[in-house]
Amino acid sequence: MDKRVTLKIARITRETELINTYTFKHNLGARPGQFIMLTDFEGGEKPFSIADCHADEFSITVKKVGEFTTRLFEKQEGDFLSIRGPYGSSFFISNQKVLLVGGGYGTPPLYYLARTLLDVGADVTVVNGARTKEDLVFCDRFRHLGVRYQSITQDGSLGQEGTSVDLARNLLKSEHFDFVYAAGPEMMMKALMSELADYEYEFLFERYMKCAIGICGNCTVDPIGIRLCVEGPVMPKKYVVQLTEFGRYHRDATGKRIEF
Ligand SMILES: Cc1cc2nc3c(=O)[nH]c(=O)nc-3n(C[C@H](O)[C@H](O)[C@H](O)COP(=O)(O)OP(=O)(O)OC[C@H]3O[C@@H](n4cnc5c(N)ncnc54)[C@H](O)[C@@H]3O)c2cc1C
Ligand code: FES
Repeated sequence: MDKRVTLKIARITRETELINTYTFKHNLGARPGQFIMLTDFEGGEKPFSIADCHADEFSITVKKVGEFTTRLFEKQEGDFLSIRGPYGSSFFISNQKVLLVGGGYGTPPLYYLARTLLDVGADVTVVNGARTKEDLVFCDRFRHLGVRYQSITQDGSLGQEGTSVDLARNLLKSEHFDFVYAAGPEMMMKALMSELADYEYEFLFERYMKCAIGICGNCTVDPIGIRLCVEGPVMPKKYVVQLTEFGRYHRDATGKRIEF
């Protein structure tokens, strides 16, 4: 769907000081892992993952990091924002035993995935990590969903001290999973990848996007030239293992390489 739709913000949920969830009453019809492009008509249009989606509403969870997201934090319920989408690839839906690994504000799209996996009878374990408890989101939501759930923070301010990759490593040593999913900082997924040689997996990538419809070329990844807005943002193992830039560098709005 390329048509732009202008929607009223139905609900704003404060997750932490720097993270808000925005809910809109609209039948978006998105699949887990997909994203929308959002504008406030004041400058720029930015991609955000779908944190949850029902027939009558959907939500996105936003971290305040720069100019655009700071403006979003000034919005009130009832204000209007405009979207296009949903765009991109979505997660494979397994009905087996699966592990979901999330990091920071990257975790929310795994919530919609977990709910969808439960619906088809999967046995779902979620590990959720963040730098501090202020960055850790959706803990209660995952617990209420009925998945097996563990959280961890790097500074030990909530749960154990460490990263979600540490939790995943321990689980992968002691039990078998049929499929692994991850969303979060790229360096987290890079570290996780080295634990997954014997596993099938999919990772959700967040790279700079402009058009989101495969035209501008801003989101292509070396060396296979896949467009993350069309063939991604969810990438299966067979592509991830070919990406020479994964965990090394990404590109800014001008296409210039930025080292991680
Ligand atoms: C597929 C996808 C899904 C995303 N989902 C979420 C989400 O659910 N929640 C969330 O908080 N953020 C998400 N992001 C990142 C979000 O788009 C940026 O944080 C936001 O655009 C920052 O804008 P800003 O002006 O506030 O910050 P800026 O100061 O402009 O940038 C801060 C950081 O955001 C990145 N960024 C800026 N513009 C873009 C852009 N057009 N495309 C991608 N990255 C950009 C920059 O690389 C920079 O590291 C997602 C990005 C992608 C590609
Ligand atoms: S953002 Fe333009 S091709 Fe992907």
